[in-house]
Amino acid sequence: MTATSVPAPSTPTGDTRHGSSIGQPLTRRDGPLKVRGQARFAADNLPPGTLHAALCVARIARGRVTGLDVAAAEAHPGVVAVMTPENAPKLAKDPDLKDVPFTFRLDVLQNDRVRYANQPVAVVIAETLEAATEGARLLAPTYAAETPRIGLNAGEVFTPDSVGVGAPASEGEGDVDAGLAAASQKIAATYETPAQYHNAMEPHAAVAQWEGDRLTLHMPTQGLAIAQGRLAALFGIRPSDIHIESPYLGGGFGSKGVPAGPQVLACMAAKLVGRPVKLVPTRAQMYGPMGHRGPTRQTVRLGADAGGKLTALDHHILTASSSFDDFFEPAGRVTSTLYASPAIAVRHEAVRLDTGTPLFMRAPGEASGSVAIESALDELAHDLNMDPLELRLANYAEVEPITGKPFSSKALRECYSRGAEAFGWAGRPLKPRQTRDRDGFLVGTGVGTATFPALIFEGQARAEIRADGTGTVELGALDMGQGAWTALAQIAADGLGIGMEALTFRMGSSDLPSAGIAGGSGHTATAGNAIHAAAGDVVAQLAALATADPASPLYGAGNAGVTAANGRLTRRDDPGRSESFADILARAGRARIEGTGKAGADPAAQKSYAMHAHGAVFAEVKVDPDLGQIRVSRLVGAFAAGRVINPRLVRSQYYGGMIWGLSFALHERAEMDPRTGRFLNDNLAEYHLPVNADIPAMEAILVHEDDAVVNALGVKGVGEIGITGTAGAIANAVWHATGMRVRDIPITLDKLL
Ligand code: MOS
Repeated sequence: MTATSVPAPSTPTGDTRHGSSIGQPLTRRDGPLKVRGQARFAADNLPPGTLHAALCVARIARGRVTGLDVAAAEAHPGVVAVMTPENAPKLAKDPDLKDVPFTFRLDVLQNDRVRYANQPVAVVIAETLEAATEGARLLAPTYAAETPRIGLNAGEVFTPDSVGVGAPASEGEGDVDAGLAAASQKIAATYETPAQYHNAMEPHAAVAQWEGDRLTLHMPTQGLAIAQGRLAALFGIRPSDIHIESPYLGGGFGSKGVPAGPQVLACMAAKLVGRPVKLVPTRAQMYGPMGHRGPTRQTVRLGADAGGKLTALDHHILTASSSFDDFFEPAGRVTSTLYASPAIAVRHEAVRLDTGTPLFMRAPGEASGSVAIESALDELAHDLNMDPLELRLANYAEVEPITGKPFSSKALRECYSRGAEAFGWAGRPLKPRQTRDRDGFLVGTGVGTATFPALIFEGQARAEIRADGTGTVELGALDMGQGAWTALAQIAADGLGIGMEALTFRMGSSDLPSAGIAGGSGHTATAGNAIHAAAGDVVAQLAALATADPASPLYGAGNAGVTAANGRLTRRDDPGRSESFADILARAGRARIEGTGKAGADPAAQKSYAMHAHGAVFAEVKVDPDLGQIRVSRLVGAFAAGRVINPRLVRSQYYGGMIWGLSFALHERAEMDPRTGRFLNDNLAEYHLPVNADIPAMEAILVHEDDAVVNALGVKGVGEIGITGTAGAIANAVWHATGMRVRDIPITLDKLL
């Protein structure tokens, strides 16, 4: 394995004026490769001699495997090996041990226990996919089954130590009971959200190959270094002996943040047979070992004075985790940051169920919590006879509630006003069921506030400028479809002061400096700032060479006295005096200048400021009064998330998020049989997702926001915020259309009849 799989540089179709790549609406540089089928996803790799593996998965949700017909599978033509707990390689580390952050417990054939439906219980390895699949079927497991605990009422309720990846299970300030007692208007309502599955288009494939103790892996991942570390620990080798290629992901949404059990099984299978092994789970097999969004039951109590000012905000969340691990959907976090109130209480409780472990899923916590809070606020507005947008403005948080920290930036007021104007919110009737369109459909509108934290993780990058004036930037960044190949290259080109056509940009391989995790909407901030720092290092070295050289027109200008653009350094105080990178390097006798840079959270800034992106989403729905059918007819979102690197890609992220919000409000729900714990809809036909015809006219408004604190580039995340606000806005619009408040998400037509 030598070459890094990177796409050939393709010609961007947008404006590529030198030194001004940031801010340009470039199309995806990897787009043409994907359209032509030339982008190599993990499962497209087939090293010579590769065998195919198929999973045999549990059809019970709790118990033990008592028998597998290994002989029948082995007798099938083409089957090379059957991997069961009897012969599976023993791992160097207990896969249930959690001594490192971002570790999730894995079921990888180390015992005969079944902890959830669709858990792998054996792997069949064969010369063809067909033989492996048939071999897996022939195993016909028998079980000692126990009654599974399925559904939020099934398990014992307890208070977890933490929620999400370490957030407190409870937080708040002030006296909520006193606030409620003092309120002139109160509401208390309970909202339910279902289990949801990521359903990335690309399954969690792995093509694994061992050479001695070195492992080469083609595998989609949102975090190369995390995956290297996890696999190295499991196999008892060094992280540097694991080479992972992940140039493209067909979606991740959090489910590829950590290696999934089946990806580990592919590595084990390759070890067992001593040949490369490719394992691609089926769609159904992704319902179980790849994580999901846990269900929630949320009770919101609000108190307000007659003017609509909140006196108390109480949010109780009951959620679920697996019987054996501890990720809990942190649905209440959003309540701690969204609205001002003298008393706020957020409390999570949980039950343990016989399901796979929930995992971060696009806007983990914020998506579920936002729909409850935004619905509750709407219910309060109705009781107060107040415009729901006015109610939100009356409770605008000037500083972050609970912590009292100022926001590093917060252009939410502009989001409300620009969104409302574009949507045509003014003049909306306060009462529900007031409007019909000319076909007789009930028309309603609703609003929701969007918010998501502006995160940054640790990341590094390498950069260089060569004597011919071209440059390279490289880091282990990841593109799961969001446009990192393009947006990060724009940051790189501007950082080096060269045009996109002079830039070689590499990412998506574990051979490159770690760019952290592509998650938490923090990848552009993390990878982008690492690139910015690495490129800045190169430019500073160039400037030091030139400004110290009496033969240079830049002599004496000092590092801060020059700027890099168009492949040249130019004096700030005298734009007429400049010198090309090529000339500077030639005179210095240097072939290249290399630099490194890193990014990470600034503890001082984090201590002093709250950092979040914000937005406002407006929805219009039309409901058939006879059939209850709901159509979203318009969606307008206005978002402020710091600096915009590429408006086309940012808008695309907002659209994707808003579509997910629509899906959350009206479509998605994983159904399990409570008796068996098995899925009733583990396929894309019955797990409802919106199709193109479900998606209305959409508008995403990019509200200008400068932020000098959040990070050097001033970027916040845009990947997840679109879901928040949207689901609540749609739920509120359904109420406004019909006068019926559905608190059981998704809102389906049967609930309106
Ligand atoms: Mo996202 S749920 O952080 O990939």
